[in-house]
Amino acid sequence: MAKNEAVETSEAQIAVHWQEEEYVYPSKEFIEQANIKDESIYERFALDNFPECYTEYADLLHWYKKWDTILDTSDAPCWKWFVGGKINACYNCVDRHLENNKNKTAIHFVPEPENERIEHITYQELYVRVNEFAVLLRDFAGLKAGDRVTLHMPMTEDLPITMLACARLGVIHTKVFGGFSGRACADRIVDSQSRVLITIDGYYRGGKFRDHKKNADIAVDLSKKDGQEVDKVLIWQRYPGKKISSTPLVNGRDYLVNDLLKDFRGKRVEPVSMPAEDTLFLMYTSGTTGKPKGCQHSIGGYLAYVTGTSKYIQDIHPEDVYWCMADIGWITGHSYIVYGPLSLCASTVIYEGVPTYPDAGRAWRIAEELDVNIFHTAPTIIRALRKIGPDEPVKYNYHFKHMTTVGEPIEPEVWKWFYKVIGKGEAVVVDTWWQTETGGFLCSTMPAIKPMKPGSAGPGVPGIYPVIYDEFGNEIKAGEGRAGNICIRNPWPGAFQTIWGDRDRYISTYYAKYCKDKNSKDWRDWPYLTGDAAMEAEDGYYRILGRIDDVINVSGHRLGTKEIESASFLVQEVAEAAVVPVADEIKGVVPDLYISLKPGYEASDELAAKISAAICDTIGKIARPRKVWLVSDMPKTRSGKIMRRVLGAISNKKAVGDVSTLANPEIVDEIKKKVSS
Ligand code: WTA
Repeated sequence: MAKNEAVETSEAQIAVHWQEEEYVYPSKEFIEQANIKDESIYERFALDNFPECYTEYADLLHWYKKWDTILDTSDAPCWKWFVGGKINACYNCVDRHLENNKNKTAIHFVPEPENERIEHITYQELYVRVNEFAVLLRDFAGLKAGDRVTLHMPMTEDLPITMLACARLGVIHTKVFGGFSGRACADRIVDSQSRVLITIDGYYRGGKFRDHKKNADIAVDLSKKDGQEVDKVLIWQRYPGKKISSTPLVNGRDYLVNDLLKDFRGKRVEPVSMPAEDTLFLMYTSGTTGKPKGCQHSIGGYLAYVTGTSKYIQDIHPEDVYWCMADIGWITGHSYIVYGPLSLCASTVIYEGVPTYPDAGRAWRIAEELDVNIFHTAPTIIRALRKIGPDEPVKYNYHFKHMTTVGEPIEPEVWKWFYKVIGKGEAVVVDTWWQTETGGFLCSTMPAIKPMKPGSAGPGVPGIYPVIYDEFGNEIKAGEGRAGNICIRNPWPGAFQTIWGDRDRYISTYYAKYCKDKNSKDWRDWPYLTGDAAMEAEDGYYRILGRIDDVINVSGHRLGTKEIESASFLVQEVAEAAVVPVADEIKGVVPDLYISLKPGYEASDELAAKISAAICDTIGKIARPRKVWLVSDMPKTRSGKIMRRVLGAISNKKAVGDVSTLANPEIVDEIKKKVSS
């Protein structure tokens, strides 16, 4: 197997080997109010009823024209859903709620500074603001259906307004995580060929004001060098009308949105009736090579899937106050802060800052004040809250009926603490396993139907049929106690359509490994490779162990080891680089970076700091290595491959195993000494 080396250093190997846990049952009160109370949903979504079953999700939406074909497989494995249907995502998330719910809060925006008031934006206000901005995009920025526009924005209400305005026009948004650097933003501008960048002057995070506009200048300059001109930068203001960023505007390129909006007051634009299979957005994610992949998501299939899963798995009712603490810059935020909840007419909370600012009680004060009853977060945050604020939840009068964890495996002990302390033993918990590529949930318990099991995501959600294969394509059965590569047997409407501009990479990354017949137009021949290792217990619950490829999951954020390695090469002294994941109590894993220098250069703390800074500048602070180890050489195989497995063992203080077959076994002791000193 070509990727042997990477597999050996995967998180699965580091993952704790958990015991099977006892079931935990949902309360009677939860079951009584749940959107889905009985098992028949699994029958309705049985493979025998595939793909027709998915019309149940599509029927939750408003269609200008119904589809002719539910699933078109003629371009396998680029599956097309609801072909012939016409729809608009913005209409479904905003306009259709006005008749009965225009006064209802759509978005609660919670600024990080606690002295600033929470803003409650009604559906009517959302409608007005989205319309005015959409007309601005059309008439001032010249954007039309099919154009791409890059958004580099933090967590303020301007972000969903921007996304929905794009969706209204059929413009494809590509949102870059606000914490990413100007360089990372430029790469996405270039790949998506955006000529408009939408950003903000600044925002608050961790008690600090961040000047964000300067990233736009870097992004535009670097894009130009790479051949993509950005002719307009639209800048929202954190405080409309007030200057807070000291970075100057570039004449004829940079425009303050709030100045421009004056000309668009009262303007409205009809939502564009879009083919269901057109693209709603691109979401870039890390892959095994340095270049991020633009996952291309459809309008109709995606919206149907996130609406259906928000209703049945998140159990969102229109009267709920739903708070997902993820960042909209990731897929979780797209699907389960913006599109899913708003499509169901829920009130969704957007919090600007870090959950523990100014103290570990902040999240619970927000929950109490807004009377949040559905709470959605990630294991890394749960671990942090457990460490620094275990006594906080009990001090506040909030009550969750439902809680979600997503993004990484959650240890049973952490799960139990989440359930007992944050959920006060009252809330049902769903551990949802899925990916940027999949648009929505793959595995999770159905909250009122299946019991919870700490540390296990659960069975496939209705309509999703997972299967675990070994390296040779043999199925590993439930209860065998062996891990393998988890795949999904069947397509589903939330799945991405392809990698933007790179169909070959889409096929080779996700389908080539287990494809039964490359010419087949039958979906049964094309299992989807998720890139995760997993085990299936006897009861059909899946436990996800981690990635099988060179992707590491830091605080639930996917980073390619290759991305970090290639950033370190920007420092000219660097000869070789290797990133390995190190287990971390709070973040799950963090990257350790091993570097060997070109001949003639001396290792020094300054050089290590310079390499670390290069990574932060290139990717963003989330990629900062725990430690940069400057070593005299890397452990290598005889064919010259860096043995990351050995470095991973050293960083994790594990036995390195047999190294006698290495080309340079003596280096192992030298590195070990360095790391343990
Ligand atoms: C991991 C986030 C265990 C997994 C939605 C996957 C999880 C990657 C879980 C996708 C979970 C996500 N349990 N592992 N509940 N959820 N993962 O694209 O390795 O940012 O492949 O999407 O996160 O990360 P992504």
